[in-house]
Amino acid sequence: MPDLRQGCTTGKPSEDTAPADALVLFGAMGDLAHKKIFPALYHMVRHGHLDVPVIGVARAARTDEHLKERVRDSIQQQGDDINQEALAKLLKLLRYVGGDYEKPGTFDLLKKTLGSASRPAYYLAIPPSLFTSVVESLAKSNGMKNARVIVEKPFGHDLASAQQLNAALHAVLPESRIFRIDHYLGKEAVLNLLFFRFANSFLEPIWNRNYIESVQITMAEKFGIEGRGKFYDDTGAIRDVIENHMLQVVAFLAMETPTGMYCDAIRDEQVKVFRAIPPLDPKHLVRGQFKGYKTEKGVKPDSNVETFAAVRLEVQSWRWSGVPFLIRAGKCLPVTTTEVLVKLRKPPLDNLAGESSNHFRFRLGPGEISLGLSARVKRPGEELISMPAQLSAVEEHIADEVDAYERLLGDAMHGDAMLFVREDAVEAAWAIVDPILASATNLHPYEPGSWGPCEADRLATDVDGWHNPEEHK
Ligand code: BG6
Repeated sequence: MPDLRQGCTTGKPSEDTAPADALVLFGAMGDLAHKKIFPALYHMVRHGHLDVPVIGVARAARTDEHLKERVRDSIQQQGDDINQEALAKLLKLLRYVGGDYEKPGTFDLLKKTLGSASRPAYYLAIPPSLFTSVVESLAKSNGMKNARVIVEKPFGHDLASAQQLNAALHAVLPESRIFRIDHYLGKEAVLNLLFFRFANSFLEPIWNRNYIESVQITMAEKFGIEGRGKFYDDTGAIRDVIENHMLQVVAFLAMETPTGMYCDAIRDEQVKVFRAIPPLDPKHLVRGQFKGYKTEKGVKPDSNVETFAAVRLEVQSWRWSGVPFLIRAGKCLPVTTTEVLVKLRKPPLDNLAGESSNHFRFRLGPGEISLGLSARVKRPGEELISMPAQLSAVEEHIADEVDAYERLLGDAMHGDAMLFVREDAVEAAWAIVDPILASATNLHPYEPGSWGPCEADRLATDVDGWHNPEEHK
């Protein structure tokens, strides 16, 4: 398989593919910057991929020194052997601009700090409610010429707000300069789904409703909301991970072969999958909340927000008609693992096939990335019976999260939008979940450390129940 990017650039630097000459990070003192963005910047410097000024913007009145301290702290928490030379280089690139996002003075100061930079990339790692006013202020301060904007998820709060946000962004810059991040699209293991599907010819004949019985995706997290109470209580599991990360995984599993290697081939296929999924019926949703959530800092004492969601959907296409796709995601579950299980139909000979059927299992991390096929073989011995055997095709251990942000930031700085969510895709994804956002479905309490509310079982009764992934060893 050639590099997926082949053919995506003209080879000639144009306004849209010339590299950004400064990175401006809004939300520089926030949690996301500390946990994911600073480590990504450090790795970019280490790999020789970042040598332009990095300007951190936040509300607090702080100095360059404070920002450097925060970056140092973030890198130290990575626990790796720190490459001091790379860290020192990164610290040298940093500047800080503090100020209210509502005040023009903040943007004038930013313009001054940008100095001669003429193609900045603005990364909005701030709450979605601030996106519009920040981009408008950037435009008013003449900061949008040749600029790119990188926007964090969730992109909006529902379909209507995502449409408004798209309109507000398009009022100041074209789609080719908007980069909507979903870090799952930058993950090695998620990209591997595409390679496994399209770089092997043995799979295509069976990758359809004739051979596949069901698809399950579980995104289990052992931890809770980790001090993100305010953000999480405004968001909930459906908006936090189902509308974006989980639906992107569905798109990679279900899409048709991208035709040709033009830039938007993959994004065109992604959006076709989303459009083939009917809006979710609240009957096919089970929501849960872990016991103790309401006492977390930043959470409303009467919160009705879900920390667990299970949904069942259909992809109404020639390939997938009638195959249930089940997704479940939750906090405070027994393990931290994201896993896809693609179950094949049972062969007709019961006495040979035994109880369990074949399946493909993709572990998408964290830590272990693996691809397994569960097959049946003869049990050694006199008896003529079968037993399950696991064929493990790939197994790797990598720090995939840093890798995802590093890849995506580098792409955005170079104007490569292939792994970013396009306007039509983000709206089509919201259209799928929109009916279940407002629905007053019951919220079932569950014990931390359990697999969520047992009510979720009803969604999976006809596919032999949910498959609970094991902890990565
Ligand atoms: C983020 C969500 O987008 O993804 C978090 O806001 C979630 O709630 C995280 O924990 C999971 O990412 P990963 O890469 O650890 O699977």
